[in-house]
Amino acid sequence: MDFTNLLVEIRDRILYITINRESKLNALNKVTLVELHHAITHSFHNEAVGGLIITGAGQKAFVAGADISEFADLNADEGRALAREGQSKVFDVIQNSEKPIIAAINGFALGGGLELAMACHIRVAATTAKMGLPEVSLGIIPGYGGTQRLSQLIGRGRALEMILTAEMVSAAEAYRTGLVNHVTEPDLIISKSEELLKKIMSRSPFAVACAIRAVNANYIEGENGFETEISEFSNCFGSIDFNEGVAAFLEKRKAEFTGK
Ligand code: COA
Repeated sequence: MDFTNLLVEIRDRILYITINRESKLNALNKVTLVELHHAITHSFHNEAVGGLIITGAGQKAFVAGADISEFADLNADEGRALAREGQSKVFDVIQNSEKPIIAAINGFALGGGLELAMACHIRVAATTAKMGLPEVSLGIIPGYGGTQRLSQLIGRGRALEMILTAEMVSAAEAYRTGLVNHVTEPDLIISKSEELLKKIMSRSPFAVACAIRAVNANYIEGENGFETEISEFSNCFGSIDFNEGVAAFLEKRKAEFTGK
């Protein structure tokens, strides 16, 4: 598939998605969001892909937000549609992906850019990255899940401070508060992301998918995460990966998982 605003490449079972609008600091316009939806959902059915890394082109920005020029004229109904469509087609799709997705935050991750990173399962940031939800300085609020995911990741008090002040935080501060999992030198974020992803991909893909669903259940209104955990735990016992994992342990060899 050809993309206008994404560079997409599979290497060693990792799908690398690079948001490629460097002159606009990789801002998420409509075309980019549609392309992200396609690239990510297609990977779900591609057995050659075991996990994904999302990053931004260039040294300056991961993604500097939703494309402000595209929502300058929207009315309330159009604003609602923009947020709903973005959440359901991109941000929730990433959060609920059964294949692990890592955000390699190579620079500014602002507004929709930080929301994109927060929807990923794990975040690795460059020492030079800056993160924030500056929407209230534009007279709006985060609309791609930022109010919810930031509170989940760093707690309500810190999230409210970041959202209400619209201030950016450094990578070191983001690490201190749990907003990012790791901080590396800028030239090492991809290799650190690969190291993490390869470790996850060496485990049972079946169990990894069950674990993602069980963890995510905590954040689904009306769902009892403990019950979800019980049923996902039970699912694992019916998998070929479970038989293989236990057999490999007993035979003192490396497991060859199939994800089935
Ligand atoms: N939407 C659309 N265009 C954007 C953008 C966004 N979110 N963020 C940056 N750009 C564009 C700029 O308009 C500029 O385009 P131009 O060269 O055609 O004028 C280009 O990217 C470079 O950005 P610039 O502002 O000149 O870079 P800078 O180094 O001076 O500042 C930032 C960098 C990130 C601080 C600044 O671009 C910024 O504040 N961006 C908006 C962040 C934001 O509010 N995001 C949330 C949106 S909801």
